[in-house]
Amino acid sequence: MAENNATLTIGDTSYDLPIMKGNEGPDVLDIRKLYGASDHFTFDPGFTSTASCESALTFIDGDEGILLHRGYSIEELSEKSSFMEVSYLLLNGELPSKTQLVEFSQTISRHTMLHEQLATFYRGFRRDAHPMAIMCGVVGALSAFYHDSTDISDPTHRMISSHRLIAKMPTIAAMAYKYSIGQPFLYPDNSLSYTGNFLRMTFGVPAEPYVVNPVIERAMDRIFILHADHEQNASTSTVRLAGSSGANPFACIAAGIACLWGPAHGGANEAALNMLREIGTPDKIPHYIERAKDKNDPFRLMGFGHRVYKNYDPRASVMQKTVREVLSELKVNDPIFDVALQLEDMALNDPYFIEKKLFPNVDFYSGIILSAIGFPTEMFTVLFALSRTVGWVAQWNEMISDPGQKIGRPRQLYTGPKHRPYPGFDER
Ligand code: SDX
Repeated sequence: MAENNATLTIGDTSYDLPIMKGNEGPDVLDIRKLYGASDHFTFDPGFTSTASCESALTFIDGDEGILLHRGYSIEELSEKSSFMEVSYLLLNGELPSKTQLVEFSQTISRHTMLHEQLATFYRGFRRDAHPMAIMCGVVGALSAFYHDSTDISDPTHRMISSHRLIAKMPTIAAMAYKYSIGQPFLYPDNSLSYTGNFLRMTFGVPAEPYVVNPVIERAMDRIFILHADHEQNASTSTVRLAGSSGANPFACIAAGIACLWGPAHGGANEAALNMLREIGTPDKIPHYIERAKDKNDPFRLMGFGHRVYKNYDPRASVMQKTVREVLSELKVNDPIFDVALQLEDMALNDPYFIEKKLFPNVDFYSGIILSAIGFPTEMFTVLFALSRTVGWVAQWNEMISDPGQKIGRPRQLYTGPKHRPYPGFDER
């Protein structure tokens, strides 16, 4: 959809760069032919000004704090929808009818069980293994069990493996938690909702019936909605790059899990709660804010700042509201929540944070809710990966079904030695 051109002049040669327009957001300069014509690469480490693909899934306006999934706002979806419905929307492009939603939920439910041999994988890990390490290993291993759905050129195979991944992540996550505390694994119960089933597999025990708390179920489902997809973030870009080589979907999602683990990305929810606990009391907040501003101190306020949002992360607002609901339902008076609220207030009134447009992001409050529900901090990023799997598979499907898709292969600015002869030992 190039409607006009930009002109780039290098020396005495000018190059036309078609300008492509989307439905929302900035236009893009199509530089695909630039290297062939000008023998120049563009340079954008960290991709701060680079659009890597066309996508119809999610739109983010960082200045306005807008997040849309297939055109629907995260505020409306988190209030009125369900994670299963948002999953259907991301995968299929439109909200489902009641019948379609029931059928989709039933399809997902029927894929929640793991191959029984996969349970033995857990026994190879130490009990204190980080559950994200287990997730990387077990999800990558799925490709050894589901050969019947790894032909990525077949849309039916792609959808089956997408359903399998969405369905099995809660089971894999719950098993990682059970293994870490030495309790037996619980099999899925398909009479429960997607999220209720996950809560039962995580917190239920064989000796007694588990009753799903509807307030916690709703809060958890909303947390899953908030983390479902987020445009071309680091882990989604990892999944796309892995998928561009033709790797099977299970391997691609394992790559996304590995990338999400980093504290600058999905690992921030675990780091944010650990930071709040380290601060401990409101009187210590000024010291930590000063540390975050000190260029010589690697400390950053975890759960603050974002590559795209230079205004409030709309997910953080919903998350803060959900904290109040969960803490009052569980009658938990967590002083850490007061520390978080006061830290946010002090940071948002500090010139450093104002000037650098640093606001709370999705990870700032999520840990408080998850901790109140009973998850250990090591499980927080696992829950992020559980939810983001639908975004990853939807983005992967979108890429694979694009006939013009090519393998991702960035170039570089080479700053190493020029060609030189090989010296013998006596010349070194
Ligand atoms: C997620 O991309 C996505 O969409 C990700 C995500 C998703 O849903 O997939 O939204 C999920 O990953 C949320 C982000 C979680 N990470 C954190 O909360 C970790 C803390 N935040 C930072 O590490 C940082 O804000 C990033 C990594 C999130 C963004 O970094 P950028 O865009 O590369 O910005 P930057 O590091 O260049 O920072 C700009 C300036 C720097 O100062 P100067 O060098 O200009 O002087 O702001 C400062 C930074 O030092 N800064 C912070 C800060 N974040 C940025 N200073 C103190 N505390 C912080 N948290």
